[in-house]
Amino acid sequence: MYEGDIASVLISEEEIREKTAELAAIIAERYPVDAPEGDLLLVGVLKGAVFFMTDLARALPIPTQMEFMAVSSYGSSTSSSGVVRILKDLDKDIAGRNVLIVEDIIDSGLTLSWLMRNLSTRNPASLEVVTLLRKPDAVKADVPVANVGFDIPNEFVVGYGLDYAERYRDLPYIGTLEPTVYGG
Ligand code: PRP
Ligand code: MN
Ligand code: MG
Repeated sequence: MYEGDIASVLISEEEIREKTAELAAIIAERYPVDAPEGDLLLVGVLKGAVFFMTDLARALPIPTQMEFMAVSSYGSSTSSSGVVRILKDLDKDIAGRNVLIVEDIIDSGLTLSWLMRNLSTRNPASLEVVTLLRKPDAVKADVPVANVGFDIPNEFVVGYGLDYAERYRDLPYIGTLEPTVYGG
């Protein structure tokens, strides 16, 4: 599938599976099964986080519930305005809950830093982040991310939720895109 478009496999299906299990074990230690705050609430950021979120939920040995948010950045991705618009908000109130934001990737960190600020105003009992991937620029945004799967180089990656023009999300692995695909 998409054969001529993928330059290389950066992270294989097996590596994703192993890392997800590792992250799940670490996360599960911090949240008791019968927490007074209720089940851990996973907040997935549409659409990229969907694949990681569903695999993580199934790897976690504690009960979790799911909410989703869809956001979009104003203007170009290179702008540092950090202005984000909510396309779809959470369905439920998160006050008093243990909340774990689930992301597929932190690139500039703008989406996440905005989301952290926004969700923290809703008074969750705790607010943390897990991301499968992190790019080098994320360091500049200074967002506290407790759990990172892989630090990756500044390359254009697709698959396992990550898209280029909405394509390639359905690849089971993470790969780099041939520059010819995006006109490079
Ligand atoms: C991507 C990715 C993260 C965000 C990271 O989402 O899934 O949510 O960008 O970028 P940042 O750290 O520079 O803010 P995108 O906006 O492409 O939407 P999508 O998840 O629907 O692909
Ligand atoms: Mn996204
Ligand atoms: Mg995208």
